[in-house]
Amino acid sequence: PLVTLAEVLKEADAKGYAVGAFNCNNMEIVQAIINAAEAEGAPVIIQASQGAIKYAGLEYITALVRTAAAGTSVPVVLHLDHGTDFNQVLRCLRAGFTSVMIDGSKYPLEENIALTRRVVEIAHAMGASVEGELGRIGGTEDHISVSEREATMTDPEEARRFAAETGVDALAIAIGTAHGRYKGTPKLDFDRLAAIDRLVPTPIVLHGSSGVPDADIRRAVELGVRKINIDTDIRIAFVEATRQALAANPDEIDPRKVLGPAREAATGIIRHKMQVFGCAGRL
Ligand code: G3H
Ligand code: 13P
Ligand code: ZN
Repeated sequence: PLVTLAEVLKEADAKGYAVGAFNCNNMEIVQAIINAAEAEGAPVIIQASQGAIKYAGLEYITALVRTAAAGTSVPVVLHLDHGTDFNQVLRCLRAGFTSVMIDGSKYPLEENIALTRRVVEIAHAMGASVEGELGRIGGTEDHISVSEREATMTDPEEARRFAAETGVDALAIAIGTAHGRYKGTPKLDFDRLAAIDRLVPTPIVLHGSSGVPDADIRRAVELGVRKINIDTDIRIAFVEATRQALAANPDEIDPRKVLGPAREAATGIIRHKMQVFGCAGRL
């Protein structure tokens, strides 16, 4: 069934694991996420970015995930990833999303708090959850130095204030991860994470988690991360399998013979992530 983010994170917090939040753009990826959750006995967050909604259409994304959730005993959250537009957030809530992210991280603290609080009031009144973001999670392509990167990281005291004043159900923080494919190995600031977790009772979200070594992910979960976002590793598995299917049979014209293996490959990587996050076998 469809449930809220607050519900699955409450359980995760009580038992000390993280729930995987996987980005979807099409039917095959939605099915891969659900198949993985069922195979692993894990609660799951299916999230769509504004780009995904632009690509597939809000009605299609909503219908795909609702259909998936209605046909399974696994708890499923339908979540907006990196909502930046207030009206888009409202459209998602009206369409039936059970959770939305409002990403006000590019604004000064006061403005971020005001915008996020406004979304929390509306979403909570509609029975949905909200994720906010404090600190800037960049892309791997950003050419910035270590000291510049550090300046974009989440300040623990600001995080405490942000969580208390906005009432968000989950807080995305910047501790050294980035969106997209890493060039080297990412260096996570675990001391900062520990400091944030000490001050902030709200469940913590790690973005840009593709390509982060499993051991680092496990450590982040031990230090309080409760939602882990994965997109790029699914893209890599999906498109790599597509390429292989086409290379193995260049004359193939049946989309099912190309996208079927891609769906299988995506399921495989998602199942692995669920085991690492600790959410596997929790149902
Ligand atoms: O946070 C970024 C996600 O990977 C979504 O990416 O905006 O290209 O859909 P996208
Ligand atoms: P990756 O693409 O690096 O896994 O990041 C996903 C993410 O943070 C979505 O919000
Ligand atoms: Zn993100």
